[in-house]
Amino acid sequence: MTQTAIAKEKPDWAGEDWLSRLVNILIKTKPLYSLMKYQARQVLIKTAEKNGIPWRQTVKDLESSTVKQYFAEIEDSSLEYPDYYHVPFHAYDEGNLCWKAAFEAAPATESMALRVWKNEALTPEVAKARLRNSFLEVVTQYLPEQVNEVLDIGCSVGMSTMPLHQFLVDQNNGKVQTTGLDLSPHMLSVAKLRDEAKTINWVHGKAEATSFADNAFDLITLQFVLHELPNQATRDIFRECLRILRPGGCLAIVDNNPKSPVIQGLPPALFVLMKSTEPWSDEYYTFAVEENLRQMGFEYLTTVPSDPRHRTIVARKPL
Ligand SMILES: C[S@@+](CC[C@H](N)C(=O)[O-])C[C@H]1O[C@@H](n2cnc3c(N)ncnc32)[C@H](O)[C@@H]1O
Repeated sequence: MTQTAIAKEKPDWAGEDWLSRLVNILIKTKPLYSLMKYQARQVLIKTAEKNGIPWRQTVKDLESSTVKQYFAEIEDSSLEYPDYYHVPFHAYDEGNLCWKAAFEAAPATESMALRVWKNEALTPEVAKARLRNSFLEVVTQYLPEQVNEVLDIGCSVGMSTMPLHQFLVDQNNGKVQTTGLDLSPHMLSVAKLRDEAKTINWVHGKAEATSFADNAFDLITLQFVLHELPNQATRDIFRECLRILRPGGCLAIVDNNPKSPVIQGLPPALFVLMKSTEPWSDEYYTFAVEENLRQMGFEYLTTVPSDPRHRTIVARKPL
């Protein structure tokens, strides 16, 4: 008897499945988790360095740089952080609110890009460019005619913002004003240091409630942000995007693809690690992004598996 494989909507290790619950129990077993976290970190750094990413050197260079001088000018000290932002994240006890996370963000992102095409011998530079281009090539098909004002939400240290800016400058004869918004002043300080030409406007703020005017942007991107959020925060951010996008403007999202066979087939050591360092995984992998965009008032345009692990979703604010 032949069996037709039924495509799964999400990995078994996320959501309510027994495997997912088992993983959650494992993660909550503290001594085991601490050991796992320590060992995984050593492997991550060693693998990155073996593949040409100078992880420890990058951290050292930042430690001895002038980066901390930007903190005071970037930080909005009146900002109240949402509770979900205070939980340990990516194995940093202070989540994104510390220098260690900010100093390691670029090498960690480069490692992530290399893992997407792990069976190809790519350099970190090539993998990084491929990751961003695979997203931008989808987005460019849906852009309004004029793209002058652009916002990258959850810009972190600018790894997504700078290629986005350059791509649009090349398309738009240089007339683009790009803003990067993030909740971590540490990340934004590193972004400002990395942005040597100081072309991008780096803003410390909460995506759910920004200080931007109504109809301010032609394009907003959320690159690898949603998997770090509880669903309610995602909905609140969609609502805010609808307010600050101009009619006809686009919201473009790229993130882990729950339907990706690679993600669904991750080896246990990897998915346990992933869930243990990303506390909102169960919510993310079971969240109907497209449906929520529609409910919020967006015109949903497309979902494309833009690389073997990620999907790009584009929606528009109706005219
Ligand atoms: C994984 S990083 C994304 C990095 C970057 N966009 C990229 O593609 O390389 C997620 C970022 O979202 C930020 N973030 C999370 N929640 C946020 C919120 N509510 N408002 C603004 N930024 C947020 C975090 O501080 C973090 O820097």
